[in-house]
Amino acid sequence: MVKKKNENVEEKKIIEIEDVPGIGPKTAEKLKEAGYTTVESIAVAAPQDLAEIAEISEGTCSKIIAEARRMVRIDNFISADQIMEKRKRIGHITSGSKNLDELIGGGFETQAVIEVFGEFGSGKSQLAHQLAVTVQLPKEKGGLEAESIFIDSENTFRPERIVQIAEHYGLDPQETLAKIHYARAYNSDHQMLLAEKAEDLLKEGNVKLMILDSLTATFRSEYVGRGVLAERQQKLGRHLRKLHQLADVYDICIFVTNQVSSAPDVFFGDPTRPIGGHILGHSATMRLYLRKSKQGRRIARLVDSPSLPEGEAIFLVTEKGISDP
Ligand SMILES: Nc1ncnc2c1ncn2[C@@H]1O[C@H](COP(=O)(O)OP(=O)(O)OP(=O)(O)O)[C@@H](O)[C@H]1O
Ligand SMILES: [Mg+2]
Repeated sequence: MVKKKNENVEEKKIIEIEDVPGIGPKTAEKLKEAGYTTVESIAVAAPQDLAEIAEISEGTCSKIIAEARRMVRIDNFISADQIMEKRKRIGHITSGSKNLDELIGGGFETQAVIEVFGEFGSGKSQLAHQLAVTVQLPKEKGGLEAESIFIDSENTFRPERIVQIAEHYGLDPQETLAKIHYARAYNSDHQMLLAEKAEDLLKEGNVKLMILDSLTATFRSEYVGRGVLAERQQKLGRHLRKLHQLADVYDICIFVTNQVSSAPDVFFGDPTRPIGGHILGHSATMRLYLRKSKQGRRIARLVDSPSLPEGEAIFLVTEKGISDP
């Protein structure tokens, strides 16, 4: 297969992170392991993140960051027309349902982290499988002619489902499977490492979709109880910052799932508002709440979008994948 370079990613001259005053060989090793491989990544890092990784004080990290900033030029301000230009490059991936695509402004978009949340069986993983196929479609059919990365923390990825959906779209099942880069995440540290390692694949420029199904399950199972809530939030925050950076730099759609349980209090409140089980807050670019309805129907509600009206769409999960009723 011919691999084309991602034109939107600028080639940069190589300055090693060891060149930054304050970063010794040991610190450099720890930082690189955590995905901080360039001076730019150090320059835009948060001191508390570096401190945690390198096991040095936040004060030292602030100094290191200041040095890194001196070494690279970071344009803190760009004109709004440049943002407009960049936003024009946003690509859309069809969900297979016109209703749902319309609700979210034409499909699942790149340069965004999209959180899909809902209770068990609401269709989060089905949608993930669907997009791993439709991203491969030609542009006129709602795809981006691209590959995907699937990080699976719940062991619910099923290649058989990919084959069924691919056949529905007239795609070659073997080829379709070959364009999905799959990894199983065994715990939250592993998951974060995989997201960071994914950057190597993203640099090749063929990937336009990265799925984390689920984003939150590993964190939930490892950080139980009130005492560790702050630590969990901090770590998840770091994970999400990395995801936003990848979505932005490599112009990809990052699709993450988050299970929320319909605990009794939810029946009396609005489950789309942050509840006990909801641990992401407002850090996603777009949030979609899924719920089950009658006759296998699913209802998607768009929540807190910066530029789209709130609304709902009804879609179906069938053997062929996602469709309109
Ligand atoms: N081959 C199929 N044909 C039709 N419907 C299917 C098929 N496979 C799965 N489904 C539907 O999808 C549902 C499972 O949805 P999904 O796995 O996406 O849930 P989820 O939101 O990811 O749940 P969880 O939070 O447990 O991960 C099943 O209950 C079934 O209704
Ligand atoms: Mg699932």
